[in-house]
Amino acid sequence: MKLVPVVYPVLAASLFCTGARGTVVLLFQPAEEAGNGAKRMIRDGALENVEAIFALHVSHEHPTGVIGSRPGPLLAGCGFFKATITRKAASAGSPRPSVDPVLAASAAVISLQGIVSREANPLDSQVVSVTSFNGGSDLNALPESVVLGGTFRAFSNTSLYQVMRRIEEVIVEQAGVFRCEASVDFFEEEDMIYLPTVNDDRMYEHVRKVGADLVGRGNFRVVPPMMGAEDFSFYSHEVPAAFFYIGIRNEAVGSIHTGHSPHFMVDEEVLPVGAAAHAAIAERYLIEYG
Ligand SMILES: *[C@@H]1O[C@H](CO)[C@@H](O)[C@H](O)[C@H]1NC(C)=O
Repeated sequence: MKLVPVVYPVLAASLFCTGARGTVVLLFQPAEEAGNGAKRMIRDGALENVEAIFALHVSHEHPTGVIGSRPGPLLAGCGFFKATITRKAASAGSPRPSVDPVLAASAAVISLQGIVSREANPLDSQVVSVTSFNGGSDLNALPESVVLGGTFRAFSNTSLYQVMRRIEEVIVEQAGVFRCEASVDFFEEEDMIYLPTVNDDRMYEHVRKVGADLVGRGNFRVVPPMMGAEDFSFYSHEVPAAFFYIGIRNEAVGSIHTGHSPHFMVDEEVLPVGAAAHAAIAERYLIEYG
């Protein structure tokens, strides 16, 4: 058994199993929150000869020791956009002083609301939010350009890329209506698009069985999908995967805050349970699928 420990500080560990030669690879999660470490790990060969992958993530929503997951899409895919809306260059002979990028950008913001509410299948959850809008600070003149941006989320790769295409179309065309032009940046080169995290049915079932045996049937929960995103998603698109949560909630020690809160802390009672879950999932995978 070969062990390569790669764990992301306190929050989660990802565990790789390869069947044929009985090799287990442990993987830390470098640059998970920003920078899309998983994509680089895959590029550097982390998934070579790997046939399945499992990840454990702490959750303040469940009592310490409870294990939870769900089959299929579990976490959303996520991306960001930044659009620059500018007056079309006017020729010196015919200036168009009333071309207004603020109005064009405002119309774009309103039209973007229609992507989810009017175009998406209501059963396929999606989000488009404009979170930033900036036309400078001059109170007495129209700006040359307005920069607006935000985030979008979806539970399938197809929906994520469809939303992304529509964000660009809506902004560019809405800008055109007001005689402006627009360009939209999705930060693709900076690896800012995270795919949805999708659990493989068989790997989910494996985690459910092993988890229930480990912590008791009553302590395994089927959890709802969440709009958060994870770079584990990139592994889940390459090999059969299961991402699961382990509870850390314990009012007595104060471990009741989300992982992104400055008050976040772990109930350390979870450590042996998490280690045992990883070990049991790997061991039984090798026995049952190896
Ligand atoms: C996601 O969809 C895009 C656009 O259709 C495609 O280029 C990409 O390969 C897809 N990625 C995966 C992992 O399916």
